[in-house]
Amino acid sequence: MTAYTKAETLLKVEDISLSYGEKKILRDVNFEIRNITRPDVRQGQVISLIGRSGIGKTQLFKILAGLKEPTSGKVSLDNGNAIKAGDMGVVFQNYYLFEWRTVYKSLELAAKKNPELKDSGIKTAINRYAEDFNLTEHLSKYPQQLSGGQRQRASIIQQLLNGSEFILLDEPFSGLDVLVLDKVKELLLKISLTDERKTLIIVSHDIVTTVAVSDTVFVLGLEGNKPGATIKKEIDLCERGLAWQKDIHKEPAFIKTIEEIKSYL
Ligand SMILES: Nc1ncnc2c1ncn2[C@@H]1O[C@H](COP(=O)(O)OP(=O)(O)OP(=O)(O)O)[C@@H](O)[C@H]1O
Ligand SMILES: [Mg+2]
Repeated sequence: MTAYTKAETLLKVEDISLSYGEKKILRDVNFEIRNITRPDVRQGQVISLIGRSGIGKTQLFKILAGLKEPTSGKVSLDNGNAIKAGDMGVVFQNYYLFEWRTVYKSLELAAKKNPELKDSGIKTAINRYAEDFNLTEHLSKYPQQLSGGQRQRASIIQQLLNGSEFILLDEPFSGLDVLVLDKVKELLLKISLTDERKTLIIVSHDIVTTVAVSDTVFVLGLEGNKPGATIKKEIDLCERGLAWQKDIHKEPAFIKTIEEIKSYL
């Protein structure tokens, strides 16, 4: 098995609960994301939060992004500071883009926020990502001239360019055709390998695709008759030898893990 270490905590989620009036959506949500290191590999993290439709994934996503105040509990970074809006790159379920700007202008605006990209580097970075994500011919278009899959890829690049260490993606695999899906999977894996501290958090009900690109899975579900969803199970895919492999979905141990995850939903 590949050698790896789980080092310092990058993100800590403590006792999160969320209620709307009498209705409890989330209860006692606790988990930690730690920095994975491997000898001789620049290694980021890919975490997935899996749960049935309507269970509270998008609500938790907004809390993690600092866009929604939980009823109780907190989310903090490794420096102990509470998370706030803007700390994380966010790719929403509906792929938000500036409708009145061309794709290139939107991407340029995002890149200008990245202290690591200087003037000449911006153009190069945009063109490189556009090429990787098959968007080169669409850079001069406005968002309403793009297909759903193209919007989604533009939205992912936008978050990559702004340089956040955390990128949260809500249902990044929905509505993609199989070829584009493979490409997006491959790119997410690649992104996680570009920077040791880069952490992708994928929120999804597409179990197979999400688990195939992740190193750690948190299953969000209901426990018995208790109201509100909580983390029912954490699965360390590194420990099981199921992380960082391109065609992992064909492995019997992977298929078994998928069945196990389904049993917690
Ligand atoms: N403003 C609100 N007021 C009351 N209930 C809400 C509000 N927003 C969301 N909910 C409820 O919170 C629950 C969780 O919604 P959420 O969008 O997080 O589900 P999800 O797991 O992301 O589902 P999907 O997989 O379909 O995207 C739902 O039952 C929803 O009706
Ligand atoms: Mg959702």
